[in-house]
Amino acid sequence: MSGKRVSVKTIAAMKDRGERIVALTAYDYPTARMEEMAGVHLILVGDSFQMAVMGKETTLGADMNVLVAHCRAVKDGAPNTLVVGDMPFGSYQPSDEIAVQNAVRFIAEAGADAVKLEGGNQAAISRVKAIVDSGIPVMGHIGLLPQSIRREGSYRVVRADSEEMLLKQISDLEKAGAFSAVLEMIEEDVATRISEASGIPTIGIGAGRNTHGQILVVNDMLGMNGDFNPKFLKKYADLHTVIREALNNYVSDVAGGAFPGEENVFKGKGNNR
Ligand code: KIV
Repeated sequence: MSGKRVSVKTIAAMKDRGERIVALTAYDYPTARMEEMAGVHLILVGDSFQMAVMGKETTLGADMNVLVAHCRAVKDGAPNTLVVGDMPFGSYQPSDEIAVQNAVRFIAEAGADAVKLEGGNQAAISRVKAIVDSGIPVMGHIGLLPQSIRREGSYRVVRADSEEMLLKQISDLEKAGAFSAVLEMIEEDVATRISEASGIPTIGIGAGRNTHGQILVVNDMLGMNGDFNPKFLKKYADLHTVIREALNNYVSDVAGGAFPGEENVFKGKGNNR
């Protein structure tokens, strides 16, 4: 991907060619930079920040100002990747007008390429249309909706009894102008049929093998949290262990006087680098 900027058109063309779209979250400059180097097509500055970085139980308290600041860092780190700002809870629910105002902030202040919002009901579709009409690409998000946790009571896999509703939602999102949609925690067979029916690329998380692309929370796939092991997750590293070991070594080196060593200290002329 190096040098060529990924746009929403690129993502649409990849779906048409049957090429899988690779997406990940990122919340900071160095991670975004490494993701772009690795060839990730789409980076979501997710409101999962609130759980992955801030240590909270839900995404509900994610703050618009904080996400915009992190989105800026991510875009700086990944200038050629499609960067999507995730609209936090409260930033689009009140009205179409507030939704457009906050979507504009992601584009104008953070340099994002698009925004994402959750839901496929009438209100969500109205927000998507209003934002798209203002010239901003929107990614939908259906299936499990983390921002609706207070209504739902728990995070559950979405099953076949919701298929008809989900098929309507993906069709409504497409008609409203969304350029793609996240399918979260949906039985594989159901997600497959939604993806087949969809004219826009579907990006799955816990939605099986047949969506047009996949997304994971980067902290989860890097194994930052040793206790988080849901079925849909594959860990590509065990950073929890790596970082714990490094920290333990640092603590014992400083406590025991092994750091700084001879090679780490400044002395007279000629030894200052
Ligand atoms: O906030 C987020 O990271 C997300 C992904 C799980 C799709 O919405």
